[in-house]
Amino acid sequence: MRAEKFAENVFAGDSGGHDIYHTLRVHSVARRICAEEGGNERIVRLAALLHDVDDPKLFGNAGYANAMRFMESEGIPAEEREKIIRIISQISFRGSGSSVPDTLEGKIVQDADRMDAIGAIGIARAFAYGGSKGRPMHIPSEKPRESMTEEEYRSEGTTLNHFHEKLLKLKGLMNTESARKMAERRHIYMEEFLDEFLREWDGKMRWPLLS
Ligand code: ADP
Ligand code: NI
Repeated sequence: MRAEKFAENVFAGDSGGHDIYHTLRVHSVARRICAEEGGNERIVRLAALLHDVDDPKLFGNAGYANAMRFMESEGIPAEEREKIIRIISQISFRGSGSSVPDTLEGKIVQDADRMDAIGAIGIARAFAYGGSKGRPMHIPSEKPRESMTEEEYRSEGTTLNHFHEKLLKLKGLMNTESARKMAERRHIYMEEFLDEFLREWDGKMRWPLLS
């Protein structure tokens, strides 16, 4: 699909967790969910490949200029373009609330985007993102925040708290049954990671290696 090439060009150079590989993973997970759940595969694929090409964190608030430019140049009909832009605008997680897309295709792409924030990849992305913002991994006296405005969500906070504030909630927020199943193993892996992290933090070991 030419949209893959387009996204590659748009993301050339970025390494803050929003690189092209994030987009390619979301695309392949979205295809898998779509194969099980149904929905228009073309819309799902295009929305997945274009979902971050206008991310305000990377490109400022230029609306959906990149996605629109690509779709117009490809001669994608206005009706499809609107569906895809609508999905992109509905899928992102902001603050403590989250919008549920009103189409099956949107639900699938949102699930695939969330899938990439959990599990081993999710752990790696969280620390990469936290590192890029100069955030501490963990401060024992700082407890996770219960609810946040978008501003608070974007600012401060330790990376470990981000697991409690967002990542551990994602499994329960999945829209589709296939995604919920796929999220299960990744969720358990994060719980084990946190458990292990805190054991090591406190100088404990899981096995009596040093007895
Ligand atoms: P998206 O735009 O894909 O919905 P975000 O831009 O919010 O997601 O986050 C991109 C990646 O960075 C995700 O893996 C997310 O978990 C991680 N991330 C976002 N905010 C934080 C944070 N405060 N601390 C650590 N990781 C974060
Ligand atoms: Ni994304």
